[in-house]
Amino acid sequence: METNINNPVFVLLVSSIFLLCSLVRICDGVDIIRQGQTVRDGDTLISEAEIFELGFFSPENSTLRFLGIWYKVDVKAVVWVANRNNPISGNDGALRIGVDGNLVVFDGNNSLVWSSNVSRFSSNNTAAILQNSGNFVLSSNESIGDTHGVHWQSFSHPTDTFLPGMRVPVNSAIGEYRAFTAWKSANDPSPGNYTVGVDPHGGPQIIIWDHIKRRWRSGQWNSVIFTGVSNMSNIASFLYGFKLSQPDENRTQYFTYNPSNPSDLLRFRVGWDGREHQLRWNEDEKKWEDLQLHPDPTNRCELYNLCGKYATCDNSNSLSCNCLKGFRPKFPDQWSRGNWSGGCERKIELQCQRTNGTGEPDGFKGLKCIKLPDLSNLFLSASNLDACGRSCLGNCSCNAYAFVSGIGCMMWTEDLVDISHLDQSGSLEFFYRLHHSELDGRRKISKLVIIIISLVGACSLMVALWLLWIYKKKPKGLPAVSSMPCCKDNDIAVLVQSKSKSKELSADLSVSSGILIDGNQVNRPELPIFNLGSLAAATNNFSEGNRLGQGGFGAVYKGELPGGQEIAVKRLSAKSCQGLEEFKNEIILIAKLQHRNLVRLLGCSIQGDEKMLIYEYMPNKSLDYFLFNEARKEKLDWRTRLSIIEGIARGLLYLHRDSRLRIIHRDLKASNILLDGEMNPKISDFGMARIFGGNQHEANTVRVVGTYGYMSPEYAMEGLFSVKSDVYSFGVLLLEIICGRRNTSFRSMEHTSLITYAWDLWNEDKAMDLVDPSIRDSCSPNEMLKCIHIGMLCVQDSAMHRPTMAAVMLLLESETPTLPMPRQPSYASMRSSIDADFISDGHEIVSSNNLTVTMVVGR
Ligand SMILES: *[C@@H]1O[C@H](CO)[C@@H](O)[C@H](O)[C@H]1NC(C)=O
Ligand SMILES: *[C@@H]1O[C@H](CO)[C@@H](O)[C@H](O)[C@H]1NC(C)=O
Ligand SMILES: *[C@@H]1O[C@H](CO)[C@@H](O)[C@H](O)[C@H]1NC(C)=O
Ligand SMILES: *[C@@H]1O[C@H](CO)[C@@H](O)[C@H](O)[C@H]1NC(C)=O
Ligand SMILES: *[C@@H]1O[C@H](CO)[C@@H](O)[C@H](O)[C@H]1NC(C)=O
Ligand SMILES: *[C@@H]1O[C@H](CO)[C@@H](O)[C@H](O)[C@H]1NC(C)=O
Ligand SMILES: *[C@@H]1O[C@H](CO)[C@@H](O)[C@H](O)[C@H]1NC(C)=O
Ligand SMILES: *[C@@H]1O[C@H](CO)[C@@H](O)[C@H](O)[C@H]1NC(C)=O
Ligand SMILES: *[C@@H]1O[C@H](CO)[C@@H](O)[C@H](O)[C@H]1NC(C)=O
Ligand SMILES: *[C@@H]1O[C@H](CO)[C@@H](O)[C@H](O)[C@H]1NC(C)=O
Ligand SMILES: *[C@@H]1O[C@H](CO)[C@@H](O)[C@H](O)[C@H]1NC(C)=O
Repeated sequence: METNINNPVFVLLVSSIFLLCSLVRICDGVDIIRQGQTVRDGDTLISEAEIFELGFFSPENSTLRFLGIWYKVDVKAVVWVANRNNPISGNDGALRIGVDGNLVVFDGNNSLVWSSNVSRFSSNNTAAILQNSGNFVLSSNESIGDTHGVHWQSFSHPTDTFLPGMRVPVNSAIGEYRAFTAWKSANDPSPGNYTVGVDPHGGPQIIIWDHIKRRWRSGQWNSVIFTGVSNMSNIASFLYGFKLSQPDENRTQYFTYNPSNPSDLLRFRVGWDGREHQLRWNEDEKKWEDLQLHPDPTNRCELYNLCGKYATCDNSNSLSCNCLKGFRPKFPDQWSRGNWSGGCERKIELQCQRTNGTGEPDGFKGLKCIKLPDLSNLFLSASNLDACGRSCLGNCSCNAYAFVSGIGCMMWTEDLVDISHLDQSGSLEFFYRLHHSELDGRRKISKLVIIIISLVGACSLMVALWLLWIYKKKPKGLPAVSSMPCCKDNDIAVLVQSKSKSKELSADLSVSSGILIDGNQVNRPELPIFNLGSLAAATNNFSEGNRLGQGGFGAVYKGELPGGQEIAVKRLSAKSCQGLEEFKNEIILIAKLQHRNLVRLLGCSIQGDEKMLIYEYMPNKSLDYFLFNEARKEKLDWRTRLSIIEGIARGLLYLHRDSRLRIIHRDLKASNILLDGEMNPKISDFGMARIFGGNQHEANTVRVVGTYGYMSPEYAMEGLFSVKSDVYSFGVLLLEIICGRRNTSFRSMEHTSLITYAWDLWNEDKAMDLVDPSIRDSCSPNEMLKCIHIGMLCVQDSAMHRPTMAAVMLLLESETPTLPMPRQPSYASMRSSIDADFISDGHEIVSSNNLTVTMVVGR
């Protein structure tokens, strides 16, 4: 029906109804209550989208009246109760805005049963709105509906229900934060025995308390999931929707929840029976369905510390409690009767606890597929599993450790409690301290070897060594990216090798980082796999503010892991033509390249089409940031520049010759040279071409990846590449470092490029004119001329005539080398016209030297 709102009769009608309502009581379908209005029993406020309703209700089988908010669906679900401690016995309660501006509830005798109890207002002219989120917000009448000027809101005073959009603060200064209290029973909203909240220690976790005792915990939050909830560990994390915000100025973080499908009606409720339900409204079946239920009634292992300390709980077949290896029941009689509360104790005292001991140091035993014990103390400084293990071994009060991506190094200094078997726990590994004699592995192996030697002799040893070699050569795959199916053998004996005595351990351990797993020496940290979600969290959801730059293979973002470690995340843009498996292998290979002049790869993340590489973060950005800025280039004196040149040369030499992979960078340029805190250069993006171009060792490619101005003639024009094309780029870079200007900045001048400009000056014996004025006076001319000369050799047209990086390194290091004469580079002058044709559509692009061009060149 169409209503003509210009019709005066209609307007009169509407306004008179409105007037009538505002005088006495609230109209149905209104979501705001203002000064002077009343919500009586029977009236309700309804949120704009008709999702939530506020009014008086009675629980099932009860006549008492409560003011509450509920989901307005066929099966009313109460999400908030105001007067839970003070029920109203008759149907004459009323909600008003009090004279002081507070929300107040009166019973039939006009006595106050509930108040929002805000002590001070700027003005008593307030109003409250029931929002579509279910939040009931009291603010001043003018700013109603705004986010600021909120005096009070129901989301800050929840009862037993957590709703999407609520923020639960986490701050170790606050400590345990118990936000939600269950009803006393199904028909009594008064506060019951169970509370739910956040425990901020060692990766915050959700806890259900029974009075002051813990009843259930979610396991530590690893910035994507709660690690102890079995259904969460498969990476349906995006469906799961929890998020922990960045710390604000008071170091407070907030848990929030957003359903993957915003139209879902969802709630988390701690039931009067002490179980946390996640419920979703099913409109078709007209019922609330339980998505999650904790503690799960079918899994008693979810009950907190059911098996006592130092024991694991396993519910996979029937319920069973087992002492950890190296431990025995503390009260064997009770234990055998199924009273596990006493837990387990060590069979053999730790070496580090003995005063008389001069034996071997303690070691660690690994466990997999468990819910990590409670009460961890977060330890931030260790950046990988090995370092974490060493820190733990060095402190006798450390009982156990684990390194969890998204949390960092976790250590346990108290008794290990609430350990249970988890079907899927990804690759979580946990290590606890044992006396060395309780560890298998090292000793038995060496005995075995002795027996073999004595029995079969040296021949067999050779075979054994050969076999061992084969075993070691076997490529190790990355752990599966999604959740790993859980292993049967959850025992990995790990021994931290050390010959020193326990007292000197911490000092000595830094030298010996070799670790034995089941007797086999392995190169411990495989490349860590980061979770996409944790990277999103670390980089503020890849926000523009975190963006460091755009490289040829994708954008780079700054991130900070929850432990505080800063990282750079490269989000690879184009799809590589490789399969996932080759991609992984390639990255593992690349990760093994370690050199002080190469940026270190910390890990990767592969989920679907999203592929990311995680690098160490470089505080001083990249070379171009300093070199091409008038103010900042002051920081680069000639000594620094020379050491940068040498560093780049060393890194490149390693890539070309000394690494096993023989990598050709193909995109060397100033923005790919990152600088660490001490201005040491680190080459980044190495191996990218290899990843993207496949394992091409041939000198021809159909895809040209590189940056104009740095590309050698044969590469740009014919797609031919070799180590000599990198040498060309290095030459351009060297000249840029010397003259402090971008190669491309010469385009508009009579010298068409830096190279022709340099050549002209060099030819006229005025090479020193090339030098950046800011360093011209402070440098040594001989050194400078040598460098320019090397640069001119590197940028020669013919790849054959260019020196190798090894030769460049030699030339750089010798005092007075005899240098061959360079030939005139004609390509550079010729090329500028090609460039101009190619990039004709925008001066913006031309002026940006970061531009990376990928073009297809026909064979
Ligand atoms: C209400 O009472 C009925 C009948 O006694 C009972 O079946 C039902 O379980 C009760 N409901 C609640 C929530 O106690
Ligand atoms: C608001 O407070 C003033 C005094 O501060 C008082 O005079 C006035 O009556 C109050 N308004 C209402 C609606 O209660
Ligand atoms: C109101 O007061 C009367 C007398 O004081 C009392 O009997 C009655 O229970 C009260 N009603 C409520 C709803 O408190
Ligand atoms: C209101 O708050 C004050 C302190 O801020 C407290 O003492 C009082 O008990 C509260 N009243 C109610 C009804 O909650
Ligand atoms: C509150 O604000 C609304 C609109 O902004 C106005 O119509 C109303 O009169 C105000 N109420 C009071 C009590 O000031
Ligand atoms: C709450 O605790 C009390 C004693 O502490 C107990 O009697 C009662 O049964 C408990 N209620 C529930 C619902 O567990
Ligand atoms: C931080 O704490 C101060 C003092 O308690 C408070 O005024 C401020 O609003 C808080 N900041 C945030 C963002 O909560
Ligand atoms: C976990 O998921 C499985 C199937 O996905 C479901 O059957 C089970 O009830 C869930 N467990 C919990 C505790 O929600
Ligand atoms: C269970 O064992 C503990 C520790 O030995 C003991 O204190 C407790 O009384 C026992 N409980 C029962 C029900 O036997
Ligand atoms: C060291 O002390 C432990 C008890 O703390 C004892 O069992 C062991 O025999 C002692 N060893 C030596 C060598 O004295
Ligand atoms: C060992 O750890 C405890 C608990 O974290 C700490 O108090 C103590 O200072 C540490 N000791 C050493 C030597 O680091």
